[in-house]
Amino acid sequence: MRTHKIAALPGDGIGPEVLDAGLTVLEALEKTEGFALNTIRFPWGSEFYLQHGRMMKEGGFETLRTFDAIYFGAVGSKAVPDHVTVWDFILPIRQKFDQYVNLRPMRLLPGLKSPLAGRGPADIDMVCVRENTEGEYSGVGGFVHRGREGELANEVATFTRAGIERVVRFAFELARARPRKLVASATKSNALKHSMVLWDEVVEDVAGRYPDITIRKYHVDALAARMVTQPDTIDVIVASNLFGDILTDLGAAISGSLGTAPSGNLDPTRKNPSMFEPIHGSAPDIAGKGIANPIGAVWAGAMMLEHLGEKQAAHRVIRAIERVTLEGRVRTPDLGGSATTAEMTRALVDAL
Ligand code: IPM
Ligand code: MG
Repeated sequence: MRTHKIAALPGDGIGPEVLDAGLTVLEALEKTEGFALNTIRFPWGSEFYLQHGRMMKEGGFETLRTFDAIYFGAVGSKAVPDHVTVWDFILPIRQKFDQYVNLRPMRLLPGLKSPLAGRGPADIDMVCVRENTEGEYSGVGGFVHRGREGELANEVATFTRAGIERVVRFAFELARARPRKLVASATKSNALKHSMVLWDEVVEDVAGRYPDITIRKYHVDALAARMVTQPDTIDVIVASNLFGDILTDLGAAISGSLGTAPSGNLDPTRKNPSMFEPIHGSAPDIAGKGIANPIGAVWAGAMMLEHLGEKQAAHRVIRAIERVTLEGRVRTPDLGGSATTAEMTRALVDAL
């Protein structure tokens, strides 16, 4: 029996609800697919912070390092400032474990309705390769004259050639495995005359080594507009950390719901554990009501299985999701229905 050691970090808000749903679906595959998930839960997050003054226990990273993968829910609560929850938890995990690719499929699932008129699943099928360890999220900067008149803050976007190159190569490799073989690079080198000029240069260098791939360069604002007006012309997007963050919320929105979108924070070298999470946040407004859409977490779970080498199981999860959305009998409120998280989870397990 293949055993995979999973660190489950449910976090805040609806995080625990959707992560439980995800684990229920993944565990339903264990017997027939011949693997076992050895899952340990860590109660880290805002509640933990209020008791211990930190989001994770001391030595938390060393603990996480011993796992094959991390399965993450969401963070964020009114009780703790957002930059604290984020910089004491999720961003250091991405950076310390060198999860330099944030892989985010943006696909209109069969049976779901896009807010874009007349668009169906064949029109919206993109994937974003988001740089995930540096750029605008480097964490470099500071305050001067804090709390006094003339207060100043700067946030220094930091790009390295090596950091850009490895993520761009990943995007080209991914495009090679897809039928359309198209890469769209999100830039802004007209205004950002240092960082994005370097970005463009590296994209061009890498593109030279992939003559079979078509590369198009778009300023990020124009790319955002294109995602709305001509989503069918976009296949793989490669973007910096902040640009990728924004474009993937847009991508999820045009795919019908933020609740269905998954992501994998990958260390492609596999030296460190990778982390899988829905892209939605902790959604405090609906937390505890049992109505959160678990599809984003379940799909992220499928990406985790794929990463762990359980390709067939991963494929079965995706097919189950597609069957449930196509059938349309069970829909959570974000998809215009009234089903609960538990009902949706049951439908997904049945569809396996
Ligand atoms: C995401 C989230 C995070 C990000 C936040 C919580 C820091 O929006 O995963 O997209 O910006 O990366
Ligand atoms: Mg985001």
